[in-house]
Amino acid sequence: MLWRGWCVACTPRRAAMHPAARIAVTIAVLGLLGVGRAVAQSAQPRGWDAGVKAQEASDTNPDPRIVEISLEARVARVDIAPEQSVDAWTYNGGVPGPVIRAQVGDRLIVHFTNRLPAPTTVHWHGIRLPIEMDGVPDVSQPEVKPGESFTYDFKVPDAGLFWYHPHVASAEQVGFGLYGALLVEDPNDGVGVADQLVMVLSDMSLVPAGTLEPADAGGSIGTVFGREGSHVLLNGREHSTMTVASGAPQRWRIVNAAKSRYFSLDLGGSLFRQIGTDGGLQEYPVDHDTLTLAPGERADVIVAPSGAADAPLTLRSVLVYRGFGTIEGRFPYDDLATIDFADGPTYSGPPPRDVTRAIVPTPVTGATAVDLEVALVQAPDQAPEYQISGPLFLAKAKIVRAQQGETQVWQVTNKSSWSHPLHLHGFFFQVLDDKGEPVRPLAWKDTVNIPFDSTVRFVVRFDDRPGSWMFHCHILDHAEGGLMGMVVVGDAARADHAHH
Ligand code: C2O
Ligand code: CU
Repeated sequence: MLWRGWCVACTPRRAAMHPAARIAVTIAVLGLLGVGRAVAQSAQPRGWDAGVKAQEASDTNPDPRIVEISLEARVARVDIAPEQSVDAWTYNGGVPGPVIRAQVGDRLIVHFTNRLPAPTTVHWHGIRLPIEMDGVPDVSQPEVKPGESFTYDFKVPDAGLFWYHPHVASAEQVGFGLYGALLVEDPNDGVGVADQLVMVLSDMSLVPAGTLEPADAGGSIGTVFGREGSHVLLNGREHSTMTVASGAPQRWRIVNAAKSRYFSLDLGGSLFRQIGTDGGLQEYPVDHDTLTLAPGERADVIVAPSGAADAPLTLRSVLVYRGFGTIEGRFPYDDLATIDFADGPTYSGPPPRDVTRAIVPTPVTGATAVDLEVALVQAPDQAPEYQISGPLFLAKAKIVRAQQGETQVWQVTNKSSWSHPLHLHGFFFQVLDDKGEPVRPLAWKDTVNIPFDSTVRFVVRFDDRPGSWMFHCHILDHAEGGLMGMVVVGDAARADHAHH
């Protein structure tokens, strides 16, 4: 697709050229793109992804460096399975919302309108944007009330798969269907695999009558566990089918948008070659038998499933043990999609290249130590509640302070019996091992799983974007239940405004 875009752009100029010059230009451009000989061309049958891919946003701005779209949150009837439709909360009428595509460095303008029966905002998960565009009510902007609009306008400085979702009553609103992918592509990333699929993983709970289950089902116990939906969805459908060429590499850009569920993908023994994570490509690829994603995390993987036309594979998610009661007595897996193999010869093209990226480890010398602790506490006669605390916290407001340009090493100790995927708004970090060395392959993360009874460390450098940036568990029931805090970068006035 990218490839076709390039050809169209070049056609007028190339038409006027001497054939030899044309070849020279072509080679030069190929070199620039880092594509070399293995020109990325689809190896899949026509329409291979028609049964699985998500709707796409349409860019109404003719400027090639500006992506301008309209996004409307509204209740709409969606089909999550052939015999199951539901009035969900949607962006532009679909679950997931439209895939928004941009190229690294582009300006993204989103004209957002709220037609829901409740206030909302849009948060751009993982994007290093100014605080005014972060979508956190009362910090970045007022809530967008029913009938109101808000225009988000920012640059996308990093290539990678990001995503968007509300930051008002997020457990409820995400659980009801509000989330979508924001794919920021780098035409020079050198991956060289033309067939690409954005996969938004999620789940949804319906009551037997087929309507959305209320977000407080199961009371405080539901909150402590984190509510997983009864229907497991890949791009909004309970069961999808794709038809692929056996053995042909394809690139999957995956986000776990579920409010509590962890996914561990299994492709019947076929490997997942992971080349990237939350903040784009990683230092070097790593092969996995199963690919685990906590809520909020992303993965960029190359897969090359192979098989015969009469022996389809199943992409499934196996249960992840994320603490007491999370696997006991449950069916061990959920099927996400059937992969059918087209008739025809097995793929014989070149294997995908080794994708690497030079990432400089963030220096930790002189970094400020920030020690945080997550625990489940229960006061007499009260419902149990998650708490996050630490010596650097400004008492009740749960504020960590940082100067612009300051580097901090966070050590987060999870003393509760459940795992928590911790997400920091606005900044990437690098995960450190227990000796304080960066974990290899080096990678930029914005969400990291903190397993129960464990400690995770990471180093983060706060740049020149002052503001109050949230951090919270991306099990959204936990976040709503108190597992959230704020990093105030620079200028304290903003914090006082936010936490008067
Ligand atoms: Cu993906 Cu504060 O969220
Ligand atoms: Cu949590």
